[in-house]
Amino acid sequence: MSDNKVVLNYGGNSYEYPIVESTLGDRGIDISKLRDQTGLITLDLGYKNTGATISEITYLDGDKGELYYRGYPIEQIADKSNFTEVMYLLLHGELPTQDQFSKFEAGIKNYNYIADEMKRLIDVFPRSAHPMGVLSSLTSALTAFNPKAVDVNSPSDLDHAAEMLIAKFSHLCAWTYRKKLGLPINHGDNSLNYVENFYRMCFRRPNEEFHLDPVVVGALDKLLILHADHEQNCSTSTVRMVGSAHTGLFASVSAGISALWGPLHGGANQAVIEMLEMIEQDGGDVAKYVEKAKNKDDNFRLMGFGHRVYKNFDPRATIIKKAADDILNSLGIEDKALDIAMQLERVALEDEYFVSRKLYPNVDFYSGIIYRALGIPTEMFTVMFALGRLPGWISQWKEMRLHNDPIGRPRQVYQGAQKRDYIAMNAR
Ligand code: SDX
Repeated sequence: MSDNKVVLNYGGNSYEYPIVESTLGDRGIDISKLRDQTGLITLDLGYKNTGATISEITYLDGDKGELYYRGYPIEQIADKSNFTEVMYLLLHGELPTQDQFSKFEAGIKNYNYIADEMKRLIDVFPRSAHPMGVLSSLTSALTAFNPKAVDVNSPSDLDHAAEMLIAKFSHLCAWTYRKKLGLPINHGDNSLNYVENFYRMCFRRPNEEFHLDPVVVGALDKLLILHADHEQNCSTSTVRMVGSAHTGLFASVSAGISALWGPLHGGANQAVIEMLEMIEQDGGDVAKYVEKAKNKDDNFRLMGFGHRVYKNFDPRATIIKKAADDILNSLGIEDKALDIAMQLERVALEDEYFVSRKLYPNVDFYSGIIYRALGIPTEMFTVMFALGRLPGWISQWKEMRLHNDPIGRPRQVYQGAQKRDYIAMNAR
């Protein structure tokens, strides 16, 4: 039986702090009384050792490379489920019956349109605008057209807000794609399922008959599933932090989109392809770039490698790597970037620098290969990540509000100037 408390000896006194038990993985020390009792706070840059909440949604074990959505292993979910069912599972905690699934799908289709004024909004952005900036702005603007705050004490209100955002967000993602290519936007088609509808809004050309390619839809569905949630990552923690002030759901998700945009987070999938293209243009000398990544005087990092939590393989990368192979073979595409990616992986995983730091390919390393094979522009890759992560953001926001988590307000260790008096300008 492991200890159920820790003892801190400080200033000649002993203080006990209880351990918060988990069903799986890390147990936590409850330090809520630490400052009152000792005058001390903790310091943990990047929160590498700090739990911000208690959650029941997603579990991951970075050492074993395990990832569970509501207890179901990602390998089984990716193989047997579909993105709409995964959205239900994350939001409601259980796999849906056929009736629950049909009602959920119908609820989303009920909002499968966007106010015309939103179209005028997207028209004012220059085509050169990065799609993530457009998406974050449009998502926040949804509040203007749906001003009613989410009543978290009303389950039906929460469900409607989630279904509305899920429906409308897929339009905003598709529209940012069409905007980038200078193509007219497509509206939703309720005869299709969620991923088919998104695929059609992205790819249907006004002057051609549209055909759904089941291989492409299947690859998109799997990628969205693999990105759906990932416990307290940077963007999800941002959604929770903003939502902890009781900010609305749409504005909270808009903040999460901005966090995901960063190249160290979701923006890495775009940075990986740009890196692979750079290596290819530079003659494909993979060893040269592995050496650059190891050189402390060079700020080049191997994008798509390393992870805050996974110190072994990222189970999503394993699944995506196989899917990349399958879709390229199925579409008959030869992609030099994939060859370079596989060479890079092989060289890096034999190199002591990466092995000793437990740096393995993460979810972003191979996903861009598939998006590119599907004809999606590099700048849209992180938008695809955002569409996948949306149900995770909403589920985590909902859990934070239903658990009545307090407003997030960390403390600091101050190392600035001591108290001093103001000096008049002519005396400085
Ligand atoms: C995602 O949190 C999540 O769950 C995120 C995510 C999700 O689903 O939400 O999984 C999605 O964001 C995946 C990560 C995508 N980012 C990248 O691929 C960018 C490249 N990787 C990194 O910059 C880095 O690995 C992080 C940001 C992902 C993790 O950084 P950490 O945990 O803060 O680790 P660190 O920066 O402290 O690095 C530890 C050591 C350092 O070397 P030393 O100082 O010990 O000598 O490893 C080195 C780093 O320099 N290192 C790398 C490296 N990543 C870490 N060296 C070269 N190339 C890299 N990619």
